[in-house]
Amino acid sequence: MSYDRQSITPHGGQLVNRIATPEQREEFLSKAEFLPRVQLDERTFSDLEMIAIGGFSPLTGFMNQADYERVVAEMRLANGTVWSIPVTLSVSEQVAESLTEGSLIRLDDRTGRFVGVLNLTQKYHYDKEREAVNVYRTNDEKHPGVQVLYNQAPVHLAGDVWLLERDSHPLFPTYQIDPAESRKMFQEKGWKTIVGFQTRNPIHRAHEYIQKCAMETVDGLFLHPLVGATKEDDIPADVRMRCYEILLENYYPKSRVILAINPAAMRYAGPREAIFHALVRKNYGCTHFIVGRDHAGVGDYYGTYDAQYIFDEFTTSELGIVPMKFEHAFYCTRTNSMATSKTSPSTPEERIHLSGTKVRELLRRGELPPPEFSRPEVAAELARAMRVTVPA
Ligand code: ADX
Repeated sequence: MSYDRQSITPHGGQLVNRIATPEQREEFLSKAEFLPRVQLDERTFSDLEMIAIGGFSPLTGFMNQADYERVVAEMRLANGTVWSIPVTLSVSEQVAESLTEGSLIRLDDRTGRFVGVLNLTQKYHYDKEREAVNVYRTNDEKHPGVQVLYNQAPVHLAGDVWLLERDSHPLFPTYQIDPAESRKMFQEKGWKTIVGFQTRNPIHRAHEYIQKCAMETVDGLFLHPLVGATKEDDIPADVRMRCYEILLENYYPKSRVILAINPAAMRYAGPREAIFHALVRKNYGCTHFIVGRDHAGVGDYYGTYDAQYIFDEFTTSELGIVPMKFEHAFYCTRTNSMATSKTSPSTPEERIHLSGTKVRELLRRGELPPPEFSRPEVAAELARAMRVTVPA
């Protein structure tokens, strides 16, 4: 792939913008009282946002049946473009019956606020079990993604959407950098190669290590934590954001990193979500994307490197973003440095790595994760957030 162009082409060719113009907003507001309403939940609201700002380009709305079926079966939209995760809006049979194809639907958020409009073009039923098995590779209801899917209503509504207004994020307004803006920032900085990093966790040293390995070969790092819906026991986004700030302040060169929020919801779909995460970062202007161990995984549902193998099912040109694959990183006590089995001669006993669950256990017991695992300033912030006394 060549990186001499101004910036990388968005997925599908063009950056989608479905934010209503002032005229459209006026028109929608004047009709608001009379339009049938559908209420979005946290995930579908973030999907609406992601579509509107172009993060999900080339999607311009919630998927129709042809796109949905082919995405579930083959990880492609009906026109063949690679796409691995269904983006859908579901309602009950009763609500579906009350809505007419060809009409505008008012979309409200969970508080009943008018946030968007759907031009309803199709209503269709779908097979949850099939989606679960194909997308999540399991029909186990304990899987958090499958659980959300099984709780969805039975009818999908399809059609283009408009976001009424792009509000600034209530908690992280300065980090709300939408794809058009991040692309501009990369250009202004003169970055030709940018590596995107997805995370739903506080950054630990293994994350830092793989980011920095990548940074040695590209111009900039786009640190892009997901702040949409996550499962209950994940660390809340505000705590994580403070940890990222602390880490960047102390351990990264300011001029080579941009921290921005990704408003999308977490699906926990492992391999398929890794493809999806990469395509979304391509839309933000990244040329490369980090995929480490068990990317977007949960429990034992996926093999450690399944999220890397799935990239082999596509050509680099049809993906349009290069995955940077990293092995499981750990602190090696023999070489006194971060490493992977590719670079370290250590035995398993000489490797320090902790799972997220283990770290949460430590914090709950009032202990800090060791400095080989987590930078002390980050560990202290985590401990503070979890109301644990930090030893002097
Ligand atoms: S994820 O659900 O967002 O993927 P997490 O925030 O833990 O979870 O991971 C962010 C990225 O870092 C993913 O690409 C993941 O594969 C990678 N990663 C996490 N821990 C390690 C590790 N110890 N070694 C290598 N890669 C890792």
